[in-house]
Amino acid sequence: MTVPAEPRASTARGGRTLAPAALPTPLTPVADPLLAAAGVELRLKRDDLAHPTVPGNKWRKLAPNLERAVAEGCRGLLTYGGAYSTHLRATAAAARALGLASVGVVRGEELAAAPRNWSLRAAEAAGMVLEFVPRAAYRALASGAGEDRPGYLVLPEGGSNALAVRGAAEIAAELPDLGGRDLVCCPVGTGGTLAGIAAGLPPGARALGVAVLKGAGGYLEGEVAALHRAAYGREFGNWQIHHGHHCGGYGRVPAGLEEFAAAFERRHGVPVERRYVAKTLQAVYDLAAAGQLPPGTRATVVVTGVPDPVGPG
Ligand SMILES: Cc1ncc(COP(=O)(O)O)c(C=O)c1O
Repeated sequence: MTVPAEPRASTARGGRTLAPAALPTPLTPVADPLLAAAGVELRLKRDDLAHPTVPGNKWRKLAPNLERAVAEGCRGLLTYGGAYSTHLRATAAAARALGLASVGVVRGEELAAAPRNWSLRAAEAAGMVLEFVPRAAYRALASGAGEDRPGYLVLPEGGSNALAVRGAAEIAAELPDLGGRDLVCCPVGTGGTLAGIAAGLPPGARALGVAVLKGAGGYLEGEVAALHRAAYGREFGNWQIHHGHHCGGYGRVPAGLEEFAAAFERRHGVPVERRYVAKTLQAVYDLAAAGQLPPGTRATVVVTGVPDPVGPG
């Protein structure tokens, strides 16, 4: 199933609707002497502005799955995530708006008895039922392959399935006049967003993913290729993943990255989500400064999310 063309951004069930996304999202140039010195142009694809409760790549990946859940008469959604998962919060909010139930399977059995952090609290407040599983068991469960919950559409961790990849391809389709000098950049957690962007590019343009996980070389490439096969029945050769800017691993925001992101916000007035978007932006700046992006490159960084509303806790 694809995202319907018109109106492609809203979906309804029994009179309950999810407010439509503001699409296409803005494309804004960033003037920066640091990049100009390297002959690199930067633009931001502001997917963070797509939707108030289902922002960024969450909208792109969830919208086609929500359409499916509604079309198939599902009573709810079941999905997987960590203690601060944006995907769980967005799924809970979207499900509630559509009158669907939602279940979130959370990594970390010990969290069941602990006071809820702000993120899990928000998911529960939106009606999500949380189930906590041991960390050792989580990885095997999170593909959703073994889950059989009658009436529920099961989405893998991060929501990255074939429908999600096709939804993320819309990001690339919204970019006009792409050609050989274009590099469309995004963070990589589970790989669905990168897979979609690469699939949506015209010939000549390339996609660059920035891994936010440590030690994921090979693994993430395999995930993206598998998603391409699942969504399109073939692989694509127009993308690669950079593994040099995970900054210590998932969720790590070292002082240097924090300074970079805060300086970017001050200079350009754009809020920078730290765990994904900041790493991607910093990678583009560092690759440009190191001469690893050919002069004339036009880099488009997809702003895939919004900063956390509060710090950990
Ligand atoms: C803001 C943000 N950007 C990027 C990603 C990673 O996207 P993907 O899992 O499709 O690689 C996530 C997590 O899903 C995210 O929350």
